[in-house]
Amino acid sequence: MAKRLTGWITRSATTRPVPTPRLPTSREAILEAVLHPASLPTHPAIAVKVVEVASRPDCRPHEIVALLNQDPGLCAELLRAVNASNNGLARPVGSVDRAVLVVGLNRVRSLALGLSLPAMRSQSRTDPAALEHSLESVGGAIFARELAERLGHPNPNEDLIAGLLRDVGILLLQQTFPKEWADFAKLARDPLREDQCAREREFFGADHADIGAEALRKWGLPEGVHEAIRHHHAPGNLAGTAFARRAELLWFAGLLTRLEAVVEYPAALDRVLAVAADRFSLPTGRLADFLEEVRPKVDQFAGVIDRDIGRCPDFASLVLHGTAELARLAASPPEFVREPGAGPGGPHRLPD
Ligand SMILES: [Fe+2]
Repeated sequence: MAKRLTGWITRSATTRPVPTPRLPTSREAILEAVLHPASLPTHPAIAVKVVEVASRPDCRPHEIVALLNQDPGLCAELLRAVNASNNGLARPVGSVDRAVLVVGLNRVRSLALGLSLPAMRSQSRTDPAALEHSLESVGGAIFARELAERLGHPNPNEDLIAGLLRDVGILLLQQTFPKEWADFAKLARDPLREDQCAREREFFGADHADIGAEALRKWGLPEGVHEAIRHHHAPGNLAGTAFARRAELLWFAGLLTRLEAVVEYPAALDRVLAVAADRFSLPTGRLADFLEEVRPKVDQFAGVIDRDIGRCPDFASLVLHGTAELARLAASPPEFVREPGAGPGGPHRLPD
């Protein structure tokens, strides 16, 4: 079982063993295993608030301190971590206020997040899959917030939280079924990830969007967050509801974080560019400008929450080069075009 959740296990331990069903199984059995109290954080609301407050440029130390002081368990773990990493102190740090003075606000909020949300838990910094997950979480969060601000959504910080947590179901599946997830991850993937949830349901019995939504619902996050996350790979399911815009925002933010893979497939890039122009008023030039402007914010936010995202891609250049390639293809005689879902060197099809 996931050792990364140790801090939470200490506080939510139960003697009931975690069920480990044979796969694939029913949605209910998967949810019971993945959301078992022995492995699932029970109260990350404070950590979620810390993310929200800490991501504001005008965040004040006393705001973080006041939030952390609401969770004695989290404070104790944080102080333990501060003392363990500062052996040279004349006397141990005994309060969050003093921890801020000793190690600084940035370090305190990073530790607070690292110790609380499972999505924030430090993972292997050499594992490409972990880096990819971090980039997609952090990038998705910032893209969601920045797009929400452009579109005048009422609560861009909540969009940031939803973007950050939209794939928490992947971590929960991975932690509960490490071997099976490793096998699943080896399978070829559609760059737009349109079939990902269907494939997870087939392989496991439930998909990461549904699992993440159930976890966040249990943790008491707002319905607008967990329902948008439940449908972030199929936002059309929420058409006509109050959460449709956020689900579509999360879906599109996810595509932007995967541009490096998307541009390998002309048909996929064409679709992303069409969605950007039609649904987000970002024709190609403006999309490139937006990506250029947002990229440093992705790196900055990764630093704030102490996540290693590896090298942040140059999203704007990817789009511009990909667009030039699309224009070249359009001007060329019909030839074989790679299809989304086929890996590089995989099956090909003639253009429609
Ligand atoms: Fe997802």
